[in-house]
Amino acid sequence: MNAIILTGASRGLGYELHDLLVREKFPVAQRIFISRKSLGETHEGYQYIQSDFDQQGGMNINIDILPNTKFVVFISNAGTIEPIERAVDVSFFSMESALRVNCLGPLALAQQLAVKAKSVGARLFVLNISSGAAHRPVKGWMAYCVSKAAAIMALDVLAAENNHVKVLHFDPGVMNTEMQGHIRLQRAEVMPDVEIFKGFSTNHALKNPREVAEQIMSIVRDVI
Ligand SMILES: NC(=O)c1ccc[n+]([C@@H]2O[C@H](COP(=O)([O-])OP(=O)(O)OC[C@H]3O[C@@H](n4cnc5c(N)ncnc54)[C@H](OP(=O)(O)O)[C@@H]3O)[C@@H](O)[C@H]2O)c1
Repeated sequence: MNAIILTGASRGLGYELHDLLVREKFPVAQRIFISRKSLGETHEGYQYIQSDFDQQGGMNINIDILPNTKFVVFISNAGTIEPIERAVDVSFFSMESALRVNCLGPLALAQQLAVKAKSVGARLFVLNISSGAAHRPVKGWMAYCVSKAAAIMALDVLAAENNHVKVLHFDPGVMNTEMQGHIRLQRAEVMPDVEIFKGFSTNHALKNPREVAEQIMSIVRDVI
């Protein structure tokens, strides 16, 4: 038996992953979807948890992993591009907020799943939806770049200390989701490269999140 946990299932890439997971015959006994806002749909036999990762003092999510589980797959997809601000203007508070959503929340879930997977003799596979911005500076994106980079290192340390934990960082590329729509609305004074992102849209260079979700599911299929 296997378990799969997906965050950010309400829209964008996460919604497409949710849709594939409820449609496909997948060798999974537990499907757990975590989102901040309601998905507006639920499917019998699947577990839906509503949680905002941006909570001071941490999230209060408790996930039970069934005995006899062999693989726990955690797709860490929820993320925020906010705040988009000039580096000199990024406040301590907004930096903390980005870190909670993009790094600390996913890490807390991965820590919990690592402990619970071990207690039932299962392996944990963390598929971290990362970004090119975790590796290169993007003007206006300090909070996003830092928090995405921090998530990589936090998960890598977790895996280094735990033989039953494997982590893969997956950069989906530039996708046609609300996140990109929000990026295109930015002012050039705050985000000087905004025209490049507008160009991705006008030149039809944005990836279809459904196709990216299918690619991710094929990675998951190879693991379990
Ligand atoms: N779009 C791109 O071009 C691109 C490129 C590289 C990497 N990525 C990464 O791919 C992943 C998916 O991005 P996307 O484009 O699908 O983004 P999106 O359309 O903005 O969706 C983001 C998802 O994260 C959830 N989320 C945001 N803030 C949250 C919070 N405080 N607590 C809990 N959940 C929260 C949202 O839930 P709500 O609906 O409740 O707000 C939503 O389900 C992200 O990790 C992003 O960093 C995206």
